[in-house]
Amino acid sequence: MRHHGVVSVWTIVVAAGSGERFGAPKQLLPLGDARVVDHAVGVAATVSEGVVVVVPPDSSWTVDGAVIVTGGTTRSDSVRAGLEAVPGAVDIVLVHDAARPLATAALFERVVAAVRDDGADGAVPGLAMSDTVKRVERDVVVETVPREALVSVQTPQGFRTSVLRAAYARGAEGTDDASVVEAFGGTVVVVAGERDNFKITEPGDLERAKAVVATREGVR
Ligand code: CTP
Ligand code: MG
Repeated sequence: MRHHGVVSVWTIVVAAGSGERFGAPKQLLPLGDARVVDHAVGVAATVSEGVVVVVPPDSSWTVDGAVIVTGGTTRSDSVRAGLEAVPGAVDIVLVHDAARPLATAALFERVVAAVRDDGADGAVPGLAMSDTVKRVERDVVVETVPREALVSVQTPQGFRTSVLRAAYARGAEGTDDASVVEAFGGTVVVVAGERDNFKITEPGDLERAKAVVATREGVR
């Protein structure tokens, strides 16, 4: 399917996690002159007509310019909740982790363009693996996996809205959205990801993000 003319895009920013590995809800912590979640929403807004932020059940946060909905126990439940707030006529929906504050507008545009122009059901940012990768059982190596065929994937992940809705409609669970679409039989393409678009997962990651923000502000 090729679109000619205007295609409508919305983004769901999932921010309903509790940050167990980090030790706190990391998405609310300060980063530069805003919170982590505000960075994710700000860049999403550059390519989106609307942004839905999915927040924890008991939270009273507000995010400027975004529709707020309550999330669920798993990331997939939170995406399902977000999808309910995306208007029916939207062509392309992106899902982005609030915990990835450093994605650029250029990356969002690459993901949108791949879904809009390439005929795929979805597109994800991927990075080549630089380490050698091994499959292990307990701490014994079973196999060295050829890394040429592997990518590690990030968000934003973009999809034809109808496909993402159908894929999530049956209670699917996954650690990302593309895996749910893949299990549904959808085609997903990979676009170039960004090294700085790491997910804040452990405490040291926030320090690393602060260093990137300081560098970006320095070059402005
Ligand atoms: N997320 C969500 N709803 C959940 C779980 C996760 O919206 N029930 C969101 C997180 O807020 C985060 C993104 O999904 O922006 C990626 O998840 P992750 O990095 O795993 O965050 P947490 O689940 O909060 O961290 P942890 O797994 O360490 O508890
Ligand atoms: Mg998690």
